Amino acid sequence: MAETASSREISLFSPYNMGKLDLSHRVVLAPMTRCRAINGVPHEALAEYYTQRSTAGGFLISEGTLVSNTAAGFPHVPGIYTEEQVEAWKKVVDAVHAKGSIIFCQLWHVGRASHQVYQPGGGSPISSTNKPISQRWRVLLPDGSYGPYPKPRALETYEIPGVVEDYRRAAINAIRAGFDGIEIHGAHGYLIDQFLKDGINDRTDEYGGSIDNRCKFLTQVVQAVVSAIGADRVGVRISPAIDHLDAVDSDPVGLGLAVVEKLNRLQLNTGSRLTYLHVTQPRYTAYGQTESGRPGSEEEEAHLMRTVRKAYQGTLICSGGFTRELGMQAVADGDADLVSYGRLFISNPDLVLRFKLNAPLTKYNRKTFYTQDPVIGYTDYPFLQESRSRL
Ligand SMILES: Cc1cc2nc3c(=O)[nH]c(=O)nc-3n(C[C@H](O)[C@H](O)[C@H](O)COP(=O)(O)O)c2cc1C
Repeated sequence: MAETASSREISLFSPYNMGKLDLSHRVVLAPMTRCRAINGVPHEALAEYYTQRSTAGGFLISEGTLVSNTAAGFPHVPGIYTEEQVEAWKKVVDAVHAKGSIIFCQLWHVGRASHQVYQPGGGSPISSTNKPISQRWRVLLPDGSYGPYPKPRALETYEIPGVVEDYRRAAINAIRAGFDGIEIHGAHGYLIDQFLKDGINDRTDEYGGSIDNRCKFLTQVVQAVVSAIGADRVGVRISPAIDHLDAVDSDPVGLGLAVVEKLNRLQLNTGSRLTYLHVTQPRYTAYGQTESGRPGSEEEEAHLMRTVRKAYQGTLICSGGFTRELGMQAVADGDADLVSYGRLFISNPDLVLRFKLNAPLTKYNRKTFYTQDPVIGYTDYPFLQESRSRL
C-alpha cells in the first residue's frame, strides 16, 4: 500500500529511539509525588501503581525521590539514599520491567520548600538563600494540615560539593536498584531551581549573580551524575517559566537557553548525549495548584517550547496541561519528541490505550493526590474495561 502523507505523520503512537532506549510510543508518565512510600520506603502499592501505568516500550519517570535525609518537604516521599530504600525500589523496578516498560528515577532535593519537621534534628531547611518562600504558598505537614514555609539556611560555599555528592551517590543507587536511568529535578522551585532563578538566588559567591554562576550548581550536579553513570542514562528537568514556590526569573527564556547551552556543551565534551531534556510549559503554572488559574496564551506556550527545541541538541520532552490533541500536535509539528502526562495519568492508568482509542477519560480527584491510602485515589482508578462494564 502506498504511504500517504497522514500515515507518515508522527503521532503520540509513533515509536521513538532515545539513545539506547527504544520506545514504542511517546506518551510518558510524568514524575509525580504521591506520598505513599511510608517512612520513605517504597512498598507493594508503588509496584502496583507503576505497573498499572506500564506498557511494553513505554517510558515512566518515577515520583521525586530524595537524595538525602535533608531533601524532603512532603510526607512519605521515597528516598534512594539508604540500602533499605534501594532494596525496596528493586521490587518496584522489576515489576515495571516485567511489563516491558522503561523507568527512570527522578532525583529530588526540595531545598527551602521544606519544614523543620522533615529535617534531621529539627534543623532549618537548606537553600541558596536565607529568604523563606512567601505566604502565597503553604507546606504540607505530616498530619495533613498546611503551614507557612520557615526561614531556610543558605548553604555555605564549602557545603555545596557535599550536596552535589548526594546526587551522585543517589544516581549510583538508582542504577543499583535497576532503574534504566535518572532524571535530575531542576524544576518547580526546588533546590536546583532555587540556585537557577534570580528571583530567589541572592548569593554573592561563585554560585550567585550572573546566569553562569546561577547555573553552576545544576551543571555540577549533571557533571557528577554523568561521570558516575554515563550521559546516556541521565535526563534533566527544568521549568524556566514556572513561578511555583516563588521561582521567578527576570528572563525565563534567557535562563532556559543558558541551561540548554551548558547541556549542549557538556554533551560535546563528554562525546555522548544526555537521554533527554524535560521542560515544563508555562501552562502548568496556571493549573498546578488550582483549576482556576489563567493558562498561558498559545503564543507564550509555543515560544518557550520552540526556542528550547531549536537550541537543544537532543531529545525534548514537554509537560504541562497537555491534552491528547495538544500532545498529538506537539509531536506532529516537531515541537517535542515526547510528551509527559501527569494528572490525566493519575486517574487513567491505561491512558495510552485510551488515547489510542480516543476513549473518554476519568477525571482525577485532587483531594487524594497527596494522601497515604495505598488504594484510594492511587490504584483504584478504573481501566477502560472496568469503566465500560460499570455503564
Ligand atoms: C500530584 C502531583 C505531583 C507532582 N510531583 C512532581 C514531582 O515529584 N516531580 C516533578 O518534576 N513534577 C511533579 N509534578 C508535575 C508533573 O510532573 C507535571 O509536570 C504536571 O502535573 C503538569 O502536567 P499535567 O498537566 O499533565 O498534569 C507533580 C504534579 C502533580 C499533579
